[in-house]
Amino acid sequence: MTNRMCEMFGIEAPIFAFSHCRDVVVEVSKAGGLGVLGMARMSPERVDAELSWIDAHIGGRPYGVDILMPTTFQDHGGAKHDAARLLPAEHLDFVREMLDAAGIPPLPEDEAERIEHDLVASFNFTPEESARMIEVAMRHPISLIVNALGSPPRELVERAHARGIKVAAMAGAPRHAIRHRDVGCDFVIAVGTEAGGHTGSVTSMTLWPRIVDAVAPLPVLGAGGIGRGRQMAAALALGCEGAWCGSIWLKTVQSEVTPEIKARMFAASAGDAVLTRSVTGKPCRTLRSAFTDAWDAPGAPDPLPAPLQGILWWGKGRTRVERVRAPEFLTYPVGQIVEDMTGETSVRQVVQEMLTELADTKERLDRLLS
Ligand SMILES: Cc1cc2nc3c(=O)[nH]c(=O)nc-3n(C[C@H](O)[C@H](O)[C@H](O)COP(=O)(O)O)c2cc1C
Repeated sequence: MTNRMCEMFGIEAPIFAFSHCRDVVVEVSKAGGLGVLGMARMSPERVDAELSWIDAHIGGRPYGVDILMPTTFQDHGGAKHDAARLLPAEHLDFVREMLDAAGIPPLPEDEAERIEHDLVASFNFTPEESARMIEVAMRHPISLIVNALGSPPRELVERAHARGIKVAAMAGAPRHAIRHRDVGCDFVIAVGTEAGGHTGSVTSMTLWPRIVDAVAPLPVLGAGGIGRGRQMAAALALGCEGAWCGSIWLKTVQSEVTPEIKARMFAASAGDAVLTRSVTGKPCRTLRSAFTDAWDAPGAPDPLPAPLQGILWWGKGRTRVERVRAPEFLTYPVGQIVEDMTGETSVRQVVQEMLTELADTKERLDRLLS
């Protein structure tokens, strides 16, 4: 394939892969697409190590990084390292009682404190922390920086452009996309509600063409619900110039997902990918679990704002659950295509099947419309 996105990065197919897993990033870029490493919850040192590994294994193919850089940031006065102080007793009790009732043993106190401290330290999205991570990433041959939480600062866009690095951002509404265009982004990623992870409430079918029209002639990638060629064809038909996929890589042998969570995903239906604020504090589509259900039950407290709800789940819930491998409480971000994810394949196979089905779809449409 050739189009503007392929030309922009020198890639063979406009398939962009979001992943927290460096193996997926490398495999997608080697298969002719472009892998983008999610740097959320990585220290600058870890980012350096992951990108060095990618540089050594990717064979000179292009790749990018994705950062959680909020447009607005509320400084709680150095409270980052004293997060427990900000977690209300009601929420702490709610999680503790939920896990106690399920017979999940508490962690020893000193261990719980250490986990929480390490966890809070790994939430890197103050403006200074984001800047440090970008600084480290720019020492590597990255081709793309994507911001997940709003428009990147114009100054960052200019600094990236001066080094030949492209910049993009995620949009859940045309007004977000217009802001991204106005700060100088090279393209926009339009994220429909079907998507795994943080997302809005408008479907890809409705959102993609609206964003395409709002920022034309800037290129747009469709995200949310793309895991196969027919879905990629739909994105192209609606005016997008490529696909940005996150969930589909979770089913591959290369993915970071544990066998327990993979097994739950392979058994899940589309309705099990629920939109909930219970894991991060922002609407996030994730695999339904006893934890997400508990927050929907009558009398449950309102989830806390980000990042506190994330600290509550990761620090007080997830570690305790993983220690005893209680599968009914395990959750992981995933989109509605989870229903199609029924068994393990490889990244290369996903890319090849997507392109084969895309070509078949084009032929079918050519016949249908001729
Ligand atoms: C496990 C997982 C984690 C995600 N984490 C992030 C993230 O840190 N930053 C980001 O920009 N998007 C993140 N996303 C969203 C993806 O970038 C993308 O928008 C989404 O996966 C596309 O929809 P799909 O899941 O239907 O492919 C995540 C998605 C998944 C499945």
